[in-house]
Amino acid sequence: MDKSNLTIIENALYGYLPSTDLKEGKLIEAMRYSLEAGGKRVRPMLVLEFNKLCGGKTEAALPFACAVEMIHTYSLIHDDLPCMDDDDLRRGKPSNHKVFGEDTALLAGDALQTLAFEILTSDKTAGLAGERACRRAVNTLAKYSGCVGMAGGQMIDLENEDAHAPIEVVEELIAKKTACLLQAACELGCIAAGADDETIAAASEYGKSIGFAFQIQDDILDLTSTNEVLGKPVGSDEEKHKSTIVSLVGIDKSRELVDKYTSQAIAALHKIGGNTKGLSFYAMDLAKRVR
Ligand code: IPE
Ligand code: IPE
Ligand code: MG
Ligand code: MG
Ligand code: MG
Repeated sequence: MDKSNLTIIENALYGYLPSTDLKEGKLIEAMRYSLEAGGKRVRPMLVLEFNKLCGGKTEAALPFACAVEMIHTYSLIHDDLPCMDDDDLRRGKPSNHKVFGEDTALLAGDALQTLAFEILTSDKTAGLAGERACRRAVNTLAKYSGCVGMAGGQMIDLENEDAHAPIEVVEELIAKKTACLLQAACELGCIAAGADDETIAAASEYGKSIGFAFQIQDDILDLTSTNEVLGKPVGSDEEKHKSTIVSLVGIDKSRELVDKYTSQAIAALHKIGGNTKGLSFYAMDLAKRVR
């Protein structure tokens, strides 16, 4: 993975925000607060890496990368609200609603979501990536973040607090709340480069597998890390009696599952030609992540 992409992504992200001098400055400040709080930028990095693998230009994929990160950031702002996970720490800083209030945090999430689609449908993005790629990107991102995607997964997550959900339900919850957006990222990178359907399908498979590994690792860290290292409150899942893989099979078996899904992700890359080494190593790095 090209680490220099991190700076490129962050500069582009901040550039999309309107001025805080406007009447609605507080809303824009709240959006900026969460966007600038850092985060690993996993999803936009994946967009750019798959785009490069498929022979695309970074410039064309960058708006797609920013759009996915905006949807992700919106999902985190809403996820922390008192009516959802009720968490006060995010990306090492007080959660959005702790700083700006619940009302503004709700609006900041909403506005980040619509900004993502404004970016994908702008003339500038169409000029860079092409009308066809933009239309497909909108459809893909909407599908994976909507009611049978990330938002749907969040619904299943909430409905299974205190529920001792069976493994099939927990798997569906992970597939939707977490894997969907990672699949969207991988697919969008290929779409920006005009890749064929087989390549997009293989990228999606990689995204789904790292999505499972990613959420299981997230659930492990919720039990084993510290607030300082993780940048968000540990023990949050236990407190809410969340249905997680760890609560079902324990930490040791969960660690085995992280490795299993990581291997599956790497196997999916074999269906795509070119130099996939960076993406293989990235999957392994994510499996070992501590934050
Ligand atoms: C956190 O995602 C939410 C989950 C899907 C587990 P990340 O771990 O990618 O959060 P940031 O963007 O680095 O803060
Ligand atoms: C949230 O999962 C996934 C999202 C769609 C935001 P978690 O609730 O486990 O994420 P964290 O641990 O708060 O980041
Ligand atoms: Mg949650
Ligand atoms: Mg949460
Ligand atoms: Mg978590």
